[in-house]
Amino acid sequence: MVPGFIFACLLALATCPSFVASQNFPAWIPLVLRSPYHDAWTSSTAPMSNWPTFWSSAANNVQILGWVGYIKVDGTAYRWIGGENDSSNSSLAQLLDLEVTPTRTIMSMQAGQSVLFNVTMLSPIEESDPVKQSLPFSYVYLDVVASDDQPHEIAVYMDISAEWASGNRSQPVSWSSSNTDTSITLQYQLLSPVQFQETANQADDVTTFIAMRAGPSVSSTIALDQGARQGFVHGSIPPRRPESQGPIAFPFPVYAIVAELGSIAQTTQSIVWALGSVRNPVVQYTTGTGTIQNRAPYFMTKYGDIQDAVDAFLLDFDNSKAHAIELDNRISQDASSISPVYSNLVSLSARQAIGATELTVASGTDGKLNTSDVMMFMKNIGNPDGQRVNPVEIIYAAFPFFLYLNPTYAGYLLAPLFDYQASSQSTQPYAAKDLGTTYPKATGNNREHSQGIEQSGNMLIMTLAHARISGDGKFINQYYGLLEKWARYLVNNTMLPTSNQISADLESRANITNLVVKGIIGVRAMAEISKSLGKNDDVTAFSTAALQMSETWESLALSSDRSHILATYGDEESWALPYNLYADQLLQTNLINTTVYASETSYLKGLMSETPKSNLVTSFGLPISTTTTIQGHTAWTLFTAAIMSDPATRDMLLQPIWNQVVTNTSTFPYSDVYNLNSGALVSGSASPALGGIFAPLALRLSAKTIVAPPPSPGSDPQKSSIIGPVVGGVVGGLVLITLAIVAVIFWRRRRQQRISNDHGCPIVVDEMRVDPIVVYGLGQLQRGSSQPRYADMSMDSREISNATAVASETASRPNLPNPRSTKSREAGYRAPAGPPTASTAAYTTSNSGGGSSAPASSQEPPSTVASRSVVEGLRAEVEELRRAMLELHADSIMPPPSYTTDQH
Ligand SMILES: *[C@@H]1O[C@H](CO)[C@@H](O)[C@H](O)[C@H]1NC(C)=O
Ligand SMILES: *[C@@H]1O[C@H](CO)[C@@H](O)[C@H](O)[C@H]1NC(C)=O
Ligand SMILES: *[C@@H]1O[C@H](CO)[C@@H](O)[C@H](O)[C@H]1NC(C)=O
Ligand SMILES: *[C@@H]1O[C@H](CO)[C@@H](O)[C@H](O)[C@H]1NC(C)=O
Ligand SMILES: *[C@@H]1O[C@H](CO)[C@@H](O)[C@H](O)[C@H]1NC(C)=O
Ligand SMILES: *[C@@H]1O[C@H](CO)[C@@H](O)[C@H](O)[C@H]1NC(C)=O
Ligand SMILES: *[C@@H]1O[C@H](CO)[C@@H](O)[C@H](O)[C@H]1NC(C)=O
Ligand SMILES: *[C@@H]1O[C@H](CO)[C@@H](O)[C@H](O)[C@H]1NC(C)=O
Repeated sequence: MVPGFIFACLLALATCPSFVASQNFPAWIPLVLRSPYHDAWTSSTAPMSNWPTFWSSAANNVQILGWVGYIKVDGTAYRWIGGENDSSNSSLAQLLDLEVTPTRTIMSMQAGQSVLFNVTMLSPIEESDPVKQSLPFSYVYLDVVASDDQPHEIAVYMDISAEWASGNRSQPVSWSSSNTDTSITLQYQLLSPVQFQETANQADDVTTFIAMRAGPSVSSTIALDQGARQGFVHGSIPPRRPESQGPIAFPFPVYAIVAELGSIAQTTQSIVWALGSVRNPVVQYTTGTGTIQNRAPYFMTKYGDIQDAVDAFLLDFDNSKAHAIELDNRISQDASSISPVYSNLVSLSARQAIGATELTVASGTDGKLNTSDVMMFMKNIGNPDGQRVNPVEIIYAAFPFFLYLNPTYAGYLLAPLFDYQASSQSTQPYAAKDLGTTYPKATGNNREHSQGIEQSGNMLIMTLAHARISGDGKFINQYYGLLEKWARYLVNNTMLPTSNQISADLESRANITNLVVKGIIGVRAMAEISKSLGKNDDVTAFSTAALQMSETWESLALSSDRSHILATYGDEESWALPYNLYADQLLQTNLINTTVYASETSYLKGLMSETPKSNLVTSFGLPISTTTTIQGHTAWTLFTAAIMSDPATRDMLLQPIWNQVVTNTSTFPYSDVYNLNSGALVSGSASPALGGIFAPLALRLSAKTIVAPPPSPGSDPQKSSIIGPVVGGVVGGLVLITLAIVAVIFWRRRRQQRISNDHGCPIVVDEMRVDPIVVYGLGQLQRGSSQPRYADMSMDSREISNATAVASETASRPNLPNPRSTKSREAGYRAPAGPPTASTAAYTTSNSGGGSSAPASSQEPPSTVASRSVVEGLRAEVEELRRAMLELHADSIMPPPSYTTDQH
């Protein structure tokens, strides 16, 4: 069973004779990728004749990372990696096949007529070992076999240039070598490294290593490029030059290690080089108390000396390789159960997601590195503001990967965000969007911004997701007050956002349905967070608010025929990829009616099946909404695919992503945002956001019981007891907002109905046509129902009834808690789509998809007469609504009594 995917065999079921169809490959593939500064890529079609590059310049080849490899067979050298200005006149190895797994890139090659060899670039992903995970080293190894079974004289060579030392090629470097019993190591860094500074995205404080296990046949040199390379190709490497410093470029010094294998028919052990880009400290973090911390890579807790770490890394090769293969197989198996295309996508994205991070520790008060103080930092690679530290919406996009890999790592990413925001440095009512914009300096960021809903929602959702999947309630316990503050902000600000509320996609329009639903799920997540600490009053307050909000959302966010989710309230011509609904499924909060998922699934399927396609839908996919630029978003498309209620539609969303990945125009690391017409990069090249590709897999993770330790005294400076005000504000405020909205909807829907008629769209007049939520809400208000909804909670019934007095009555909705088992969820996911609802049927038979208005018909639709009477009915109901509103307004002025009596 081969994990990952073999490009050449991808489409051809028959044989895989030679390396041919380049259009089936991403143009650019990862070579080594373990940190934001250890990140090299090359051409998938000709790695033996292209220069590897740093991620940021793959498209125009300006940021070459000099790197050359040869295999010499019976005196003739063949190059397997490196670029065209390597003037050694070596032959080229032939690329036979290429395979990319989550941890490895394997190039199967041939040298001359009779030697086959594999070059494997292994960038370990160590999900259960933070020491190993934090070692910024990759393995490059060769396995050789003679196809004629005859022994051949074999030698192998690999060098790197000093271009890995800095983005500024005009700087000088210094170098050294060391030979231990274990290894031969060459290393270099800028002559004057500048801590925490980068140039053109490369670090200016990195020490680059190339190393190999020591042995009688292993030798090394530091020489100028031509000298070293021609020396090996035409004889042997020159001795090391006497100087210990020089320019990075013109001339180019290179650091080469050679192994003479003698006359062999095959290698019995892999020939292994290690390549590393080490920094220490890795991040300068300004703590909540304002202390500036230089944080070390986690591996320093085990290896005081980097040479020890290099040796340990080389000695660990067999283990590490076995682990990588095991992990690759596990991921590949999980992903293959979704689809082969999906398996290909996860294989490409795993390294990229974790490669943008660094795992750190700080010194404790005793001066020793403190393994209880672990933080992971993420760089916003590939995006505008690419030096943002722990960009919250990007972590949100990548979160499915981290949850899947190890939720503890997901928690390490949240840790600094909490630490800073729980401090007195942080004063905004909403969550910060990052920890500053100067990676690797995490300065904290208390600036005002316009993503209050977006980022508060992200933090609440991620906090609960982390706690549920890990079972670890420490953030919930320690930062409850902070979480509650954000949730209160959401309750107040989510439902009718103005254009000052910007989404993750930098959309700045009012009433973005997808943004609103994130805020609502954030509020609902808060109810679950409260529940895990047994704070029942808060549970009631936040779950009631979330329920109210979700019902209002359903009434505003759906098209009038309920066939799909609009991009913004009331824009009947619009549609969107409602990717934030993913959180409703991830957290199993079940806020949004399953019929909404079902109709949205049919709607998106319709958009993709239409012929001719709407001009917004291309072979590369769908934009995130009709109101945005025509760009594809890989992570958000995957979030959407994950929540489709039938697998066929999910797969229809996945395929275009793959089409884009393998298009030849993508001569850049696999990006998050791309042009839907050309497939070309827009932004997010090499972005960790691609961790979002794991969205369908993260939905299968089973939840644990959240264990929240009792609060330690003084651990929560923001904590305040505000049950009364919250509920009063939430419930009272929400009643007003909801009623106002309901009134607006009524009028608007009536208007839309007329518009629809003018456009000649058939109107199905039945109960569905009259918005059931509106009618329901009205009836409920008239009844003044106050039946408890959360009967399972051991609370004073008076309290419950008051808390829920304004909540709509939907008895068939699951009570809280409502843990659906993973099994049942998966069963539901795999189940064939149910019969189309009335609204779905209306959509598929009408012609209103793709945002294009249907041609006006000269004939009066048959339903118009009936719909007139509906409108009459609505008018009467609106009058009743007005009365009900006035009554409720009067009620809401007084705080619900139970919350005052509840204060002991
Ligand atoms: C040659 O190769 C190096 C990589 O070692 C590259 O940086 C350089 O720009 C290339 N071109 C010339 C003219 O040297
Ligand atoms: C490489 O080939 C060129 C042209 O054939 C020749 O002039 C040059 O001497 C060769 N270089 C080496 C190192 O053999
Ligand atoms: C190279 O890898 C392929 C696929 O994993 C394997 O079948 C082949 O035996 C390997 N070749 C060598 C020389 O190890
Ligand atoms: C690169 O280094 C040179 C030499 O020190 C310096 O003059 C130049 O300003 C640097 N360029 C950048 C972009 O930092
Ligand atoms: C280590 O870190 C933990 C968590 O931040 C902290 O509680 C503890 O005091 C630290 N230990 C030392 C010795 O500083
Ligand atoms: C929410 O709104 C209420 C009522 O207007 C107000 O008292 C409260 O301060 C607001 N809370 C937040 C967090 O904005
Ligand atoms: C947002 O939606 C509400 C309810 O439909 C509407 O009253 C309001 O005008 C909308 N805001 C904008 C700026 O369109
Ligand atoms: C979901 O929506 C459908 C149709 O709008 C409705 O019949 C059903 O009662 C709703 N279910 C819940 C749980 O609210």
